[in-house]
Amino acid sequence: MGHSKEDCQKLRCKEAKPIVFVLGGPGSGKGTQCDRIVRDFGFLHLSSGDLLREEVKKGTELGRECEQLMKDGKLVPVQITLNLIKKAMEESKTTANGYLVDGFPRAIDQAELFEEKVGRPRLVIFLECPKGEMEKRLLKRGETSGRSDDNMTTILKRFDTFQRESLPVVQFYNHLQQNLVIKVSSVPPPDEVYKQIYCAILSFRGGMDGDTKCARPPSHTCDLMS
Ligand code: AP5
Repeated sequence: MGHSKEDCQKLRCKEAKPIVFVLGGPGSGKGTQCDRIVRDFGFLHLSSGDLLREEVKKGTELGRECEQLMKDGKLVPVQITLNLIKKAMEESKTTANGYLVDGFPRAIDQAELFEEKVGRPRLVIFLECPKGEMEKRLLKRGETSGRSDDNMTTILKRFDTFQRESLPVVQFYNHLQQNLVIKVSSVPPPDEVYKQIYCAILSFRGGMDGDTKCARPPSHTCDLMS
């Protein structure tokens, strides 16, 4: 059971399956937490960064354009990311339980266009992490990741873009709807961070019931679970 037609009209939602956004700075742990959410809730994970890196790997004109922007720590144009996400959603619409969108939207225009073209997320998870911690993680990952943006010069540019363009998105959703955003500190170890997220998703199941099947029994207790 997804949103009713009426709900969909109210939310201007063209997609009836639940959409959850995972936002946070570079290296805040979005991908790490998404792996756990997928394991337990069976959502389809759509990482804008991964989708773009796949495009780069294909060596297309579009890929080359994106590669340079990513190396510069800049955002690629909204139409490109939105199209990649919409296409991936479309391709799995019969099998996906819901969509877990990681790293998108990361600018106000992206959020507005998604509202208009796709709909409103049921939940926005914002991972809070100090710059120093994110920097340490990215530099460590850069020793083995092979990612062209995991170097000090690009990391500083990514932080700047995040501060200027992406942080306002959290405010945007805060103003749009009460209780849409949950903020979670991603400083503790990954499984500790996940406990908060797991509980938040369960507590939102009222609005998701029927769409969201918890594939695994919880591996930890949760204050919010009755
Ligand atoms: P993207 O790939 O999304 O990069 P990012 O946002 O900078 O995030 P990362 O993937 O680096 O980190 P993460 O938060 O997923 O952390 P992770 O779990 O990996 O985007 C790359 C680029 O693509 C952008 O700069 C932009 O150019 C472009 N782009 C992407 N989306 C776009 C959009 N919507 N619009 C326009 N352009 C877009 O963890 C990082 C490390 O920390 C790992 O080694 C992990 O093991 C470790 N770690 C994680 N959690 C913890 C923890 N709790 N404690 C200790 N270590 C931890």
